[in-house]
Amino acid sequence: MPALVLIGAQWGDEGKGKATDQLGGRVDYVVKFNGGNNAGHTVVVGDETYALHLLPSGILSPGCTPVIANGVVVDLGVLFSEIDALSSRGVDTSRLLLSADAHLIPSYNQTLDKVTERFLGKRRIGTTGRGIGPTYADKMNRIGIRVQDLFDPGILRQKVDAALATKNQILVKVYNRKAASVDEVVDDLLSYADRVRPMVADTALLLGQALDRGDTVLLEGGQATLLDVDHGTYPFVTSSSATAGGACTGSGIPPTRVDRVIGVVKAYTTRVGEGPFPTELVDGSPGGDGERLRTVGGEYGTTTGRPRRCGWYDAVIARYAARINGVTDFVLTKLDVLSGWERIPVCVAYDVDGVRHDEMPMTQTEFHHALPIYEELAGWDADLSSARTLEDLPKAAQRYVAALEEMSGARISSVGVGPDRVQTLVLHDLL
Ligand code: IMP
Repeated sequence: MPALVLIGAQWGDEGKGKATDQLGGRVDYVVKFNGGNNAGHTVVVGDETYALHLLPSGILSPGCTPVIANGVVVDLGVLFSEIDALSSRGVDTSRLLLSADAHLIPSYNQTLDKVTERFLGKRRIGTTGRGIGPTYADKMNRIGIRVQDLFDPGILRQKVDAALATKNQILVKVYNRKAASVDEVVDDLLSYADRVRPMVADTALLLGQALDRGDTVLLEGGQATLLDVDHGTYPFVTSSSATAGGACTGSGIPPTRVDRVIGVVKAYTTRVGEGPFPTELVDGSPGGDGERLRTVGGEYGTTTGRPRRCGWYDAVIARYAARINGVTDFVLTKLDVLSGWERIPVCVAYDVDGVRHDEMPMTQTEFHHALPIYEELAGWDADLSSARTLEDLPKAAQRYVAALEEMSGARISSVGVGPDRVQTLVLHDLL
């Protein structure tokens, strides 16, 4: 099995960290190919809980090499504080590799992220405020700063100077903020150079060689399909390519080497930040206001602590994710959270201004008008957390899994019934 891609099939927070961590013990490389420290993975190993933002989940698997690839944007302060926090808990971080082509998040981009959101007011995106959007914008504008620039201080200064020539005008004249100092930015970035150097590599070359040797590479997507800058609910998206296509550009691994695409879906839906969400449970929805799902599911952001918006499973979105990513296997997570509902609505299609849509509507105007058409499935009462095989589940829960598989466009290969590594029902082996 050469390269596998693992992506979120909804709006993020599907439990990708646990899925990656589970595969991590059996793959040689885990590669993060997009996003930055806007991500948040919670991984539970025995009594220990790890919250990772920038580091790939593979960092917790001894023997696996974690890679931060070219498609990622890196905040060096965050990188080293995560490394230090893991090291102090005895986790070996020495295998970590960082692409020389990855872009860095200079402090002025965090400032710009926050002030832009404030100025957007009611039209804000609800970003994580980590400087992700401005840094990807700089990459496309060709005024970005990359990891390799740390090793050529003259070039680094020229690049920071060029970027700040326009950015300082915007900071001062549009947003009424202090100009960033070229010296301070350069000194801050250079202060990390010596520590960064040993982990920097031509990661596309190393991964190509690893695949030639027959090693297994897992490409781990941050955020999710509906947050993808091309295929998501634009403009309420992140600024990177979070779908399977992005795994190739973000790592330098060609599409012909990808063998399997794993889509992670939660047994219900959540979203953080602004933007349309047809099955959201607001006052008056079937099943209440989402508070129960939020409380039972612990639906609060790993990165920002924000309460997540909660709603029922949306099979239209799952089918869309299956098509856009070429999903071969779904990993269904957090089924245990749904115990105790008498009936569980599942969205099978949308009503858009009186017209039924079985597929994602073409325009965002239509998507904003989409009302869910629900099919109600029978619920169950039992606590699922100690189930270890599909047969251990109550019949209604088994039927729920089978119905989701039928509606979502790919087989379900595992079902999560709790946060621990062992609380997983394996239906088909992924490797
Ligand atoms: P940004 O990625 O900080 O620019 O935020 C853009 C949008 O993506 C906001 O709605 C965020 O809440 C959302 N977002 C970014 N990263 C994640 C994630 O890891 N999980 C869920 N939502 C995310």
